[in-house]
Formats: sequence, C-alpha cells, structure tokens
Amino acid sequence: MGDNVACPPSAPLRLLSSVYRYLRPLLFRLDAERAHGMGAAAAHVGQRARPLVRALYRVEDERLAQTVWGLRFASPVGLAAGFDKNAALVPFWAALGFGFAEVGSVTARPSAGNPRPRAFRLERDRALVNRMGLNNDGAEAIAARLAGLRKPEGFVLGVNVAKTHDPLILGDEAIEDFRQSVRRLLPHADFLALNVSCPNTAEGKTFEEPAALDALLAAVFAERTVQLSEVPVLVKLSPPGPDGLDTGAVDELVAISRRHGVAGFIAVNTASDRSGCTADVATLDRIGAGGLSGRPLADRATTLLRHLYRTTDGVLPLVGVGGVDSAEAAYARLRAGASLVELYTALVYEGPGVVKRINRGLLRLFERDRLGSVAEAVGLDA
Ligand SMILES: Cc1cc2nc3c(=O)[nH]c(=O)nc-3n(C[C@H](O)[C@H](O)[C@H](O)COP(=O)(O)O)c2cc1C
Repeated sequence: MGDNVACPPSAPLRLLSSVYRYLRPLLFRLDAERAHGMGAAAAHVGQRARPLVRALYRVEDERLAQTVWGLRFASPVGLAAGFDKNAALVPFWAALGFGFAEVGSVTARPSAGNPRPRAFRLERDRALVNRMGLNNDGAEAIAARLAGLRKPEGFVLGVNVAKTHDPLILGDEAIEDFRQSVRRLLPHADFLALNVSCPNTAEGKTFEEPAALDALLAAVFAERTVQLSEVPVLVKLSPPGPDGLDTGAVDELVAISRRHGVAGFIAVNTASDRSGCTADVATLDRIGAGGLSGRPLADRATTLLRHLYRTTDGVLPLVGVGGVDSAEAAYARLRAGASLVELYTALVYEGPGVVKRINRGLLRLFERDRLGSVAEAVGLDA
C-alpha cells in the first residue's frame, strides 16, 4: 500500500491535465465561488459535447464495476454532494467517468444560501472552507428537472436531501420539512442520502442527536412505505472531531439507523474545526466559519470509515469521502471498508482529469495486488 504505482496517462489525458495546470492559476485568482461558476459553465459546454468528453475521459473496465444495494455501479468513483446541487449536469458526470453522483443537497424550500463570500481555498492544504448554506432550487423544481432527465445508461443517481436552511424550522416542523423533500424526490432517486451532518446550519447538526435521528428516520421510512419504494436510504455522517472518534456516539447512531433499515453510511461531511490545516490563524480567522473539506479530512474520514466497517461487520456498504484526490487515496479508502468513494475538492485542485486518473490508477493497483475487482479490495485493511 502507498507505493506510487506507475500509471502512464493517455496522450489526450496528458494534454487535458496540462491545460488544467495552466488554467488553474488563472481560475485561482478568482473568488472560489466564481471559479466554481466558471467550472460549472465549462461542464455545461462539456455536457453538450458528451461523446467527446466520454471518449477522452471515461474508463470502461469490468474490474471497476460492482453491484451495491442491487444497483450496478460502472465505477466506484462518484461525485460528492454539493457540486451539482440543482441536478443540472447529470449526463456530464457520467461522461466524465464517474460511476454515480449525489445531486443536492436539496431542501424542501428553495434557498439562496448565505451571503457571499462563502467559499474559500486553502491552497497549501489542498482544502476548501465553505458556508454555502444549502443554496438550491428546492425540492419541487429539482424533482421536475429529474423527471425530465434521461438518465445516462448504467449511471447511478443519488439524491441528497437536507432540512431547509431556516433556523426557525425546528422539531416536528423540521421533520415534516425533510419528509416533504423525500416525498418529492424519492421517485427520482436510485438512492437517497440524508444530510444530517451539514455544519452550515444556524441551529447546528441537530439530526445527529440520537432522538432527532430516530424521529427523522421514522418519518423517512414511513414515507418510503407509503410510496411502496425500496430505494436504499443512506445517512451521511460528520467526521470525527479534533479529539478523535467518539465510538460510543457513532455506535448509537449506527444502531438507530440499522433499526430503521438504513442501507449504508456516507463518511464524511465537511468539518467545523480546522484540525489538520497548516494555514496560519490569521488566514483561518479571516475566512471564518464554514465546513472544511479536502486533504485535511482524509485521515479522520478513514478512521470513521474503518470503524463503521468493523462495527457493522462489513454488511452495510459504505461510501468513503473526504480528501480522496488520487488512485492511492481511493484505493486506501476501499481497503479501509468503503465500497464506493466520492470526491468534491479534488475536482477543484486536480481538474476534471482526476476521475480518469483514479479509475486507471485503481486498475493498476488491482493488478499490482492481484485483485480481480473492486469488491475484492473492500475491507482488506479494515
Ligand atoms: C462547496 C461545497 C459544498 C458542499 N455542499 C454539500 C451539500 O450541499 N450537501 C452535502 O451533503 N455535502 C456537501 N458538501 C460536502 C461534500 O459532499 C463532501 O462530503 C466533503 O466536501 C468532503 O469531500 P472532499 O474532501 O472530496 O471535498 C459540500 C462541500 C463543498 C466543498
């Protein structure tokens, strides 16, 4: 593990990677959200030129494919929630080589999110801090968009839902708000992810409290029963805090989740603290509050993942996310117990070619370790 495996990139990928290397300093002169907007605009262009994007980026190989929750994933690499909040780019993600994407977080009511600036780069740490505040078009509009979408063949679509960003929506009203989103979006999702761990809500991460999670899951599963749906429901958890993993607290959430029939966990969301960052205090103070993502999350995300794998005896598939930015990082996450991995921040620092690099690099790592497929790697180091 950890060796750098030679992965000679294809000529087009080499070209595209160097284009991004030249573009990145220009993009990084812009405020992080404007740069994101330009990236999204480029993705919209790419979406119209899908056959070209597919030919340049997509890696097709049976060894990358697996069936999880009865769904066939062509690659274990997916897009994490937050990049495509409004589900506007689903065909593009498939063409780029992702096996799946989580769109959202979607909330019952549309939201403009927090005032700008609300996204910041910590370049040396290959990290981001954001307090976007769940800006999205709302469940009704996004459900209508998904209803009109021709989902790319062989692509798995996860829909991530959260509570509307309004601190006045609390208690039973908060659960009803969540349920409304589930009601609208469940028919369009291959899997549903419950964002109970967003650090950017004014009232805090209330749904990671055991009683609140219990009540939320009761409502979500009641809605699923009403719809006679068997869509797998996943819970997205916070990373361990700076003092390390609180196994008792995690185990309680796992037990509640399993009682209700949760199909797996996504580990992890962004962190409210800044541990693992090398940026100076003045920089961090200037940025202020928000969720930390990227490389500083990698170790803690892996710690939680490994614990989840062990505590569930490997029977509930896990999604590893947080600082996955290379084939080696993705492979380590699979070996620690993830069946699937996701990324967001790596797209910002490494560019769109990162998906192909990870897919190709995983194949080389499987060859090196004489593994026949993704499934054989899962949990080897748990
Ligand atoms: C700008 C930004 C917005 C995000 N928005 C959401 C969101 O709406 N819902 C959610 O569940 N996670 C959201 N996330 C968290 C990511 O899905 C992911 O869990 C986290 O960034 C760690 O992965 P990474 O290190 O690959 O970025 C967001 C992350 C970033 C950087």
